[in-house]
Amino acid sequence: MAPSSIHSLLLVLFLSFGVCISLARVVPVSVLCSKHPNPTNCVNILYNIDGIGAGIELPGSIPPYVINTIGHAGAFETYTLLNTLIRNATDPKLKQRYIACSADYVGTLDYFNSAKDAYTSANYKDMKSNAANVIKAVQDCDRRPPSDPSQLPLLNNRMQDVSNIIIILADFLLGKY
Ligand SMILES: *[C@@H]1O[C@H](CO)[C@@H](O)[C@H](O)[C@H]1NC(C)=O
Repeated sequence: MAPSSIHSLLLVLFLSFGVCISLARVVPVSVLCSKHPNPTNCVNILYNIDGIGAGIELPGSIPPYVINTIGHAGAFETYTLLNTLIRNATDPKLKQRYIACSADYVGTLDYFNSAKDAYTSANYKDMKSNAANVIKAVQDCDRRPPSDPSQLPLLNNRMQDVSNIIIILADFLLGKY
């Protein structure tokens, strides 16, 4: 074999090896969601992502998508809704709840930004703790009385579901599973 063919062969072997390694890190949605406290919600959230049927490549583009486009953007929508709820509320207790929740949601926006940065620098421990902080902030909001006729309780649950997905992604990246 000419030296150039040997080089090509080595290149092909090298590339195949790389592909095998990345294939080994594709996690099926069903496997990831089996670790989630609400597997059905987990599957419903993830199956809205284009191309997710092939599984979740780790690391790859899915974790930042979940953090930014589902997590951060969703939290921002809820924050915007809260501004309207504050303006509309006639019950002073409910108004207090919305004002406090608005501050909780400002916190979640910071946590999502930190989680995104942590993922980018492969600091999966911080990615995980920031997602856990989102859950704490949302639970603080949810604990506030009185009972709430708005969409907020539903959105709080969804935000916790999304954050639990981020925690599980971090656990896979940390080699826990
Ligand atoms: C706030 O009140 C306006 C006017 O009554 C209404 O159209 C809107 O749907 C309300 N928004 C929320 C989030 O309750």
